[in-house]
Amino acid sequence: MFRGGLVFANYCVTCHGINADGNGRAARLYNPRPANLRASDKNNAYIGLIIKLGGEAMGRSQFMPPWGAELTEEQMSDLVAYIRSNNVNPAANP
Ligand code: HEC
Repeated sequence: MFRGGLVFANYCVTCHGINADGNGRAARLYNPRPANLRASDKNNAYIGLIIKLGGEAMGRSQFMPPWGAELTEEQMSDLVAYIRSNNVNPAANP
């Protein structure tokens, strides 16, 4: 979780925000806006896939970049754990 937070701070904060709530500095540039990851209803498998393959490959916005070429599998699974640890959606199903 700690490692995931470091990766998140480096690669994700400009869009998803320091609290992962979707309010990063660049968020207003995108429509749809970067997801509020704290409220996500997606499971870990989906979150891992969209991080690796990007939004477009998942039928979502092309502005969610694919990270598979840049991050290691370990960094991506650390991100999934970090995002899960910040999730406050009572309907979320890991
Ligand atoms: C350039 C802006 C940008 C960056 C940087 C970015 N994202 Fe995204 N992300 C988006 C946008 C826009 C969406 C919404 C896509 C949609 O709704 O179609 C999104 C959606 C997501 C989702 C889907 C959430 C859900 O509930 O469906 C996840 C997970 C995610 N991003 C994780 C990350 C992670 C982890 C990083 C850093 C490695 C990251 N993103 C970096 C723009 C970005």
